[in-house]
Amino acid sequence: MSSIESVLQENRIFNPSPEFVAQANVSGMDAYKALCAEAEADYEGYWGRLARENIVWKQPFTTVLDESKAPFYQWFPDGKLNISWNCLDKNVEAGLGDKTAIIFEADKGEVTKVTYRELLSRVAKFANALKGLGVKKGDRVIIYLPMSIEGVVAMQACARIGAIHSVVFGGFSAAALRDRIEDAGAVLIITADEQCRGGKNIPLKPAVDEALTLGGCGSVRNVVVYQRSGGPANMVAGRDLWWHDLVAGQSETCEPEWVDAEHPLFLLYTSGSTGKPKGVQHSTGGYLLLAILTMKWTFDIKPTDVFWCTADIGWVTGHTYGTYGPLACGGTEIVFEGVPTYPDAGRFWKMIQTHKASVFYTAPTAIRALIKLGEGHPEHHPEKYDLSSLRLLGTVGEPINPEAWMWYHEKVGGGRCPIVDTWWQTETGAHMITPLPGATPTVPGSCTLPFPGIMAAIVDETGHELEWGKGGFLVIKRPWPSMIRTIWGDPERYRKNYYPEELGGKLYLAGDGSVRDPKTGYFTIMGRIDDVLNVSGHRLGTMEIESALVSNPLVAEAAVVGKPHDIKGEAIVAYVVLKRARPVGEEAKQLANDLRNHVAHEIGPIAKPDEIRFGDNLPKTRSGKIMRRLLRTLARGEEITSDVSTLENPAILDQLKEVVK
Ligand code: WT7
Repeated sequence: MSSIESVLQENRIFNPSPEFVAQANVSGMDAYKALCAEAEADYEGYWGRLARENIVWKQPFTTVLDESKAPFYQWFPDGKLNISWNCLDKNVEAGLGDKTAIIFEADKGEVTKVTYRELLSRVAKFANALKGLGVKKGDRVIIYLPMSIEGVVAMQACARIGAIHSVVFGGFSAAALRDRIEDAGAVLIITADEQCRGGKNIPLKPAVDEALTLGGCGSVRNVVVYQRSGGPANMVAGRDLWWHDLVAGQSETCEPEWVDAEHPLFLLYTSGSTGKPKGVQHSTGGYLLLAILTMKWTFDIKPTDVFWCTADIGWVTGHTYGTYGPLACGGTEIVFEGVPTYPDAGRFWKMIQTHKASVFYTAPTAIRALIKLGEGHPEHHPEKYDLSSLRLLGTVGEPINPEAWMWYHEKVGGGRCPIVDTWWQTETGAHMITPLPGATPTVPGSCTLPFPGIMAAIVDETGHELEWGKGGFLVIKRPWPSMIRTIWGDPERYRKNYYPEELGGKLYLAGDGSVRDPKTGYFTIMGRIDDVLNVSGHRLGTMEIESALVSNPLVAEAAVVGKPHDIKGEAIVAYVVLKRARPVGEEAKQLANDLRNHVAHEIGPIAKPDEIRFGDNLPKTRSGKIMRRLLRTLARGEEITSDVSTLENPAILDQLKEVVK
């Protein structure tokens, strides 16, 4: 987390070049301001116009926004559409049938391309196969697949028949998968035998098998398995089916299910400040609108672009800018199976060169890791590759430090590509605060200004807007089309989490701290204000990790906090009290290792604590409340200077300074 002072000191400013401005979809600051003014003057008129111009509706809507059940807002409620039709059939009918939709590059480098016509036929066949298995509109389908053309096909096929997909990142464990299957009440799981990453084959299907034995998954009737590598699949007769067998002989046409704009398109589980991950529910129409608009305005997408978003389909970025946005705009996109460091740290740059990528979108953590790896290996440095096809760069997922921004700008963008630092969340569906590359002057480390029509603001703890220069809570003042609709199965949690009474119940609370530049009004994100960590751009709840730790029979109590990390943004520090004496030496080392593996088993390797510290107790107030603030100070290795006289057990602090190496 950066300090307000350092944020407000940044004074480098980069104006979009005249060449970029001249060709941009939103050209110049006046064009940006005109859109904002239009939204300001007639909010519903603005979104209604854009929804009519950008989406092909089966049945046009007459109502733009229904606020009668606020904060359960409804957008375009009487309109009907199908998102898969808008991504595929629309483009084929417009003459783009032979255009490359997806360039897939496998972990080991093999390239496969599919055209819009082929993609439509594959989606239709798979959609028919799903129907054949009895999957109906509104049913939930879990997708646990690697990055692949099949991943996109599976999502599009669900959308085509009105089934609600819930993609689970392949890095989540069987236990995490089980929780999501149960919460969603899924009828079907789509998975692969293995995933190939970094030259290794990592089993996937066994995690599904394990999840289904853990209980609570009685709703699941079938498991569809895509054969990626020929690894062990342990097909269970009567339950498991091969993808290739299912699609064989299916018709290449499939009439889409025309759904209401509010029909749920997907659930995506994300971490909050309490233990259980929440199923963020998105709509069809409003979500599609912002997927398209942000592709056009933030990414300035043109028919000639080759767009590459490196995010996995397991995250919202992979949904909006991997599966839906680029295809809805008739674009050509790259889907990459592997990791940025295999076979070496030049992989991204080599792929940009080979496929002539023009718009590249990745996470600050990847940029920082590649800066570091490139230091000892000049041969993998971006300057060793021909990156002249690039015209625009983007980042997402966490604050980008100005040093990494400058490196990205100079070494990857050759000083000529604008950078869009896009702030958004799983819940917002699409970019909320971001530069528009042909309009907004950029400042390293700032996500600049709201997307036209998004009413972002910074407020104090009572919901009053703060003057620029004062740090506070980031909120969005009016509902927007691609917003979260509810938390699956828990509408009260949705209301309390995002529309808290303390702020008056009408402001969407993002959960981030932010400050606006006193002169420009530019936003800088200061990090989460709740117990959510951002580790390498992955969102993890501290309570989730604590629950995983205390589910180990040896553990009595655990507290998890984050500390700044050069590459990952944040690292996970876990303070653990065992049911037996505090371990030391070799025993502590062994136990710390066991506990890290235990967390990987409960959640996934991404949640493994970087550091474990054992104590006889945790620092608590006399009323028994854990003093997390002190734990954060200790984690950073800083001295505690505040008054600790309210602590029940101040002596414990010395013990907790010790890291198990
Ligand atoms: C949290 C949301 C949005 C897709 C990926 C993450 C942080 C996101 C930025 C940015 C600073 C950012 C926020 C936010 N975040 N983008 N450009 N600058 N912070 O989605 O997993 O839902 O996480 O990521 O803290 O609340 P997510």
